[in-house]
Amino acid sequence: MILYDPSARTLTLHTRRTTYQMKADGYGVLLHTWYGPRVDGQDLSYLIGYADRGFSPNPREAAARRDYSLDTLPQEYSTCGVGDYRPASAAAEQPDGSLMLDLRYAGHEIREGKYSLDGLPAFFGGEGWQTLSVRLEDPHSGLAAELLYGVCERYDLITRAVVFTNEGRQPVLLRKAASLCLDLPSANLEFITFDGGHVRERGLNRSLLRPGVQSVGSVRGASSHQHNPFVMLCEPGAGEEHGLVYGAALVYSGNFLAEAERSQFETARLVLGIHPQHFGWSLAPGERFAAPEAAMVCSPDGFAGMTHRWHAAMRECLIRDPLHGARRPVLVNNWEATEFHFTAQRLVEIAREGAALGAELFVMDDGWFGKRDDDRSGLGDWVVNPQKLPGGLNALVRQVNGLGMRFGIWVEPEMVSEDSELYRAHPDWALGAPGRPQTLSRSQLVLDFTRREVRDCIYAALCRVLDSAPIAYVKWDVNRSLADVWSAALPAARQGEVFHRYILGVYEMMDRLRRDYPQILLEGCAGGGGRFDAGMLYYAPQIWCSDNTDAIDRLRIQYGTSFCYPVCAVGSHVSAVPNVHTGRTTSIETRGVVAMSGTFGYEMDLGRCTEAEKQVVRRQIEFFKRHCRLIQQGVYDRLSAPDDAFTAWQQTAPDGTEALASVVWGPVHAAGPFCAVRLRSLAPNKRYRVNGGGELYTGAALMTAGLPLPLPKHDYQAWQFYLQAEE
Ligand code: DGJ
Repeated sequence: MILYDPSARTLTLHTRRTTYQMKADGYGVLLHTWYGPRVDGQDLSYLIGYADRGFSPNPREAAARRDYSLDTLPQEYSTCGVGDYRPASAAAEQPDGSLMLDLRYAGHEIREGKYSLDGLPAFFGGEGWQTLSVRLEDPHSGLAAELLYGVCERYDLITRAVVFTNEGRQPVLLRKAASLCLDLPSANLEFITFDGGHVRERGLNRSLLRPGVQSVGSVRGASSHQHNPFVMLCEPGAGEEHGLVYGAALVYSGNFLAEAERSQFETARLVLGIHPQHFGWSLAPGERFAAPEAAMVCSPDGFAGMTHRWHAAMRECLIRDPLHGARRPVLVNNWEATEFHFTAQRLVEIAREGAALGAELFVMDDGWFGKRDDDRSGLGDWVVNPQKLPGGLNALVRQVNGLGMRFGIWVEPEMVSEDSELYRAHPDWALGAPGRPQTLSRSQLVLDFTRREVRDCIYAALCRVLDSAPIAYVKWDVNRSLADVWSAALPAARQGEVFHRYILGVYEMMDRLRRDYPQILLEGCAGGGGRFDAGMLYYAPQIWCSDNTDAIDRLRIQYGTSFCYPVCAVGSHVSAVPNVHTGRTTSIETRGVVAMSGTFGYEMDLGRCTEAEKQVVRRQIEFFKRHCRLIQQGVYDRLSAPDDAFTAWQQTAPDGTEALASVVWGPVHAAGPFCAVRLRSLAPNKRYRVNGGGELYTGAALMTAGLPLPLPKHDYQAWQFYLQAEE
């Protein structure tokens, strides 16, 4: 619900459990008065303190009020260069070189439904959503900003975006255009980020907000393995079930910056948006620029409550499901089994083994096209390699279909190998500045996706492949970070636009793919989880979570991922042991339990399994098919952290009728303790049977006293406990 109080000039956004409020003060400054647990019927600006603070300047029109300073006030969208020294939300350079921006309130509008953003991913939703549009103007430059807010009451979700318009007579260069600014009255907060690297994505890091600005971001052209564009602020000591938590996600897959400041007066500010480094967007008079969407959830009831809200909101209002609610297929992918070295016959053998055990989709990974026997050549030549697939793609797909499996294919459309027909024909299509040697990574260059002719050519080649056979799934991979970011298609003054135009180009092509091939399930991938973000999820309902398929490392990666992103989005497969990345051997049971907390599949040749392992695989697939809805759509709870003696998590049907708790032990020690795990989200009064056993336990007992765990017999032993409520 969005309310405007004309006498107080407050705009209040209520969700079920939270309230967000701003107020246009007498000077037209849009103050931010509150974001937190729900408060009704109150102008919360009484919380704002005013004091004459040394070295905190006063705007000219408030010169008589020495206690009025933008440097101390909580602002809805912070200014630049006019006396607030905390992180600016936006910066605009005028033709005279000045870099001041002072946006003041100039009206608003409240609408039913949710706004959308042209060419950019955004949460969607009709019923139950409202939009607030607030107009801000900088009269000196003629730059106007429309602050957009989408309010989804049932998930306590507020989305934001900003659209700039140059209404002046002179061109303006936008140098920063953040999507979200959040000022909070107390800096006694912890800042939580999700960091790591390739094969080590999204590890949770948590520390008290220190004086000054702490930031994470990416200038790699993708949201990155290194830092995720989802961050949290919380009360010190907040836990899964208690404490005030704020989560903010950028719905964007390119460069980003998240800045959190503990100010001199112990207030906090979070600014989130496109990274200003390498960014500059020229706005001629009349032109507009839309900053990507950011979304916020405030949970008064700890991390679990926050996760429940994100997962439900993303599943229902962000991820577009090409299968319309049908279960996602269990897949077998040949990558770790063969890498580039396969024949059509070998692929069919792998598919046959998978089909015999119940898998439903076979995915042919890298190496099927052009001259591609290793990662040094072939990218860009999206034509079937006749040596590897002599009968052509259609014949192979038909053979796999004949096994009762659908067929999926791997592509890396944004890249080109120097050793490729495409590069030889169009060397200027790769990003790179004239006269400067390009940086190689995995021996490949990046295509200039800002250019329509480049995208059109690649898209046409992909269409020829997709039209040649019944393809049900596409894995869209990216295997390097951007460098030499310079486009031959843009003048010198517009090179600051390339990073953003690049990602807009990716979105445009993914959108075309979705519209032209609505039946295709798209899986995002960037060397695993290098582009795992809310923006990508708008186009690709699932994303390969990490190239690291070691079950134990995955516990940590999937744990971090789970804070924001729902299980149905997390690409997760069982792979062969010893694991290629860690050399670790875990049982097929353990690998299955971990991979099952995702899209589920096998990244191996199941023909190499022993008969006993094959029986386990068969049972795993049956189990997953039976419980997929619970696993992927259920209420997700982390029951422990990966550095505890065991890692446990749980999915529960929203009505509490069934639940699945999964537990993976760490290294075992002799004479270890008896442990119980406290479950969550059950119906307290229902009685549950565990794994079909004879005993019944009340939900209250399982949540308060816990479920005792068997003693582990070896390292990394895993269990699943399926709980069913008795009628
Ligand atoms: C990186 C991906 O994450 C892998 O799964 C695999 O598809 C390789 N690329 C292929 O080059």
